[in-house]
Amino acid sequence: MRVARRGTLYCAAMIPFSKHCTAPREAQYVQESLASGHLSGDGPFTRRAAAILGAHLNGAPVLLTPSCSDALELAALLCDLGPDDEVVMPSLTFSSTANAFAIRGAALRFADVDPTTFSMELPQLQAAVTPATRVVVAVHYGGVTRDIAAMRDYCLARGLRLVEDNAHGLFASCGGQPLGTFGPLGTLSFHGTKNVSCGEGGAVVVSDPALLERAEILREKGTDRHRFLRGEVDRYTWREVGSSFLLADVLAALLTAQLEYAATIQARRHALVQRYCELLAPRAAELGLELQQVPSGYQPPAHLLAMLLPRGVERARVLVAMRERGVQATSHYEPLHLAPAYRPPLRRGALPSLPVTEDIGCRLLRLPLFPDLTLEAAERGAVALCEVLQQLGAGARGRAT
Ligand SMILES: Cc1ncc(COP(=O)(O)O)c(C=O)c1O
Repeated sequence: MRVARRGTLYCAAMIPFSKHCTAPREAQYVQESLASGHLSGDGPFTRRAAAILGAHLNGAPVLLTPSCSDALELAALLCDLGPDDEVVMPSLTFSSTANAFAIRGAALRFADVDPTTFSMELPQLQAAVTPATRVVVAVHYGGVTRDIAAMRDYCLARGLRLVEDNAHGLFASCGGQPLGTFGPLGTLSFHGTKNVSCGEGGAVVVSDPALLERAEILREKGTDRHRFLRGEVDRYTWREVGSSFLLADVLAALLTAQLEYAATIQARRHALVQRYCELLAPRAAELGLELQQVPSGYQPPAHLLAMLLPRGVERARVLVAMRERGVQATSHYEPLHLAPAYRPPLRRGALPSLPVTEDIGCRLLRLPLFPDLTLEAAERGAVALCEVLQQLGAGARGRAT
């Protein structure tokens, strides 16, 4: 059955774009946390969640934060940036990547992305770096950056600090190494749309042991409270100018349950991605669809199913036509170098020409992907997209001739 809403036809049984997947022990752990009376940060569930994450991340210390945005701000604080310092990052990312460094007063230099992985790779990084560059933020779009090892080596050779914005890429690895552990600092998101989620949450992965002590201080309002809690000092004192970047333990309880269920979550997500690809890949050339490419030697996180629509097909029309077929597809990032918030002097240099980013920005489409999506629903999504593209693509070709 179809119902009319705001002038558009919607299928009653709409397949949502994303939906929280309830892990079996979620309610139990939240109850336990409430009963313990320790709801604030750095309680028993924070330690449990951080230990599970560390085991996935080469044993690197993991500091839970209220969001990935906060994790990026903590990473930026650790970089000690001034107005003469530049931070290179892809323009095709979420505003939080840029905000974290802009808030610290650094200048932003936006780089283009690769047309197949949709992430900034080594050539785009090399083209953007200047003598003023101090920090490089690699954003793993959909948890995929082909050249991350080469980018790490490039940064090491030039004394640049590499921060990995790994909001999408928990459980991904490249050449066997977990994403988020290539740079001295990595960040994670546990926002409601992510593979494991506690509603809002994040983490900083500290792979450089030299940064850990300071990261702990800055995260705890600039105090050495972490040492007090470990019994290393008899009272804690104010050591630096910091902020409050702790995740409430009651949310860490939810996160712990999610992490314990991660194998199931990941298996379901991978099965769905595989089914989508089985249906879409054979028709991609005919329909003019370009699926995000996963390089060899890469274990992707199955976080999102991203693709580029054919040129000449208006994305807004595709989204409406998909809704009419009961599928909530979505667009994604608007290029940040064109956003009003990042005008000079915040954005360094002349308006860069980032042709791949501008092209991708208006062609990117994502299909529903969440663990409780059935394979049949994914099939419906893929079939709907093929139908829509056949119709709209034929229209576009007709207009062009
Ligand atoms: C690449 C990227 N970085 C950072 C964030 C911010 O994450 P959070 O919502 O946990 O603050 C997002 C949000 O999805 C993102 O896509």
